[in-house]
Amino acid sequence: MKTAVKTKNSNVKVIIRATSEEMSKEAARIFADRIRKKPNIVLGLATGGTPVKMYKELIRMHKEEGLDFSKVITYNLDEYLGISSDHDQSYRYFMNDNLFNHINIKKENTHVLNGKAKDAAKECKAYEDAIKKAGGIDIQLLGIGGNGHIAFNEPGSPKASRTRVVDLTEKTIQDNARFFASASDVPRQALTTGNGTIMEAKEILLIADKASKADAIAKSLEGPITEKVPASLLREHKNVTFVIDKDAASNLKGDYSG
Ligand code: F6R
Repeated sequence: MKTAVKTKNSNVKVIIRATSEEMSKEAARIFADRIRKKPNIVLGLATGGTPVKMYKELIRMHKEEGLDFSKVITYNLDEYLGISSDHDQSYRYFMNDNLFNHINIKKENTHVLNGKAKDAAKECKAYEDAIKKAGGIDIQLLGIGGNGHIAFNEPGSPKASRTRVVDLTEKTIQDNARFFASASDVPRQALTTGNGTIMEAKEILLIADKASKADAIAKSLEGPITEKVPASLLREHKNVTFVIDKDAASNLKGDYSG
């Protein structure tokens, strides 16, 4: 597949790869490049099914190529409310299991919102402050929901929203039910960084695979820029790249060939 760059009417670079595996390798390559250039980089990280193969590739690069995470700092996008960090569906658990336990990152340099915080509003404010104190996110990894959400900013989330408690939509609950015993076990609320928080990252990398994301990708890149499709707001960012596989690209009408 060709590597495309710069869509005509937006700042977004779009890279289309033939398979999910190649998409994941490309995304890992971009992250590894940024880590090598700035060893004490601040990464924004995502959970979910999409980044798993990318994280595997970063682990391989650490083990086989010496990619060094010893000075890397990370902040995750979101966490379920009411779930503790040792719950096997917590995003903290996911990150330890899929990445942090397998690389030389210092656990104290990794940050995930605390789903069990007594005062959730205070936790959200402290998280925003900590990101600022760290110098801001250098590169933010994003997945995309089938409804166009980024982090847990569901359709209609304000453009300027900050880290806060949100209600999950029925669509997201159903989409995430695959990770739980049943849909009724999926938490109804989450702590999430906001659209405004995400837009402050210096660089953004959105990854997507599968035909189930094709509609959200097409709306984000070619539909109106609107809070109804949170990922479309990314078109107003100056340094954003979408790395997607051809199934996720299948509803695009524009020419993205390089
Ligand atoms: C995860 C997150 C979510 C996911 C999105 C896609 O931290 O913020 O926005 O990126 O729901 O999830 P998957 O990759 O499971 O399709």
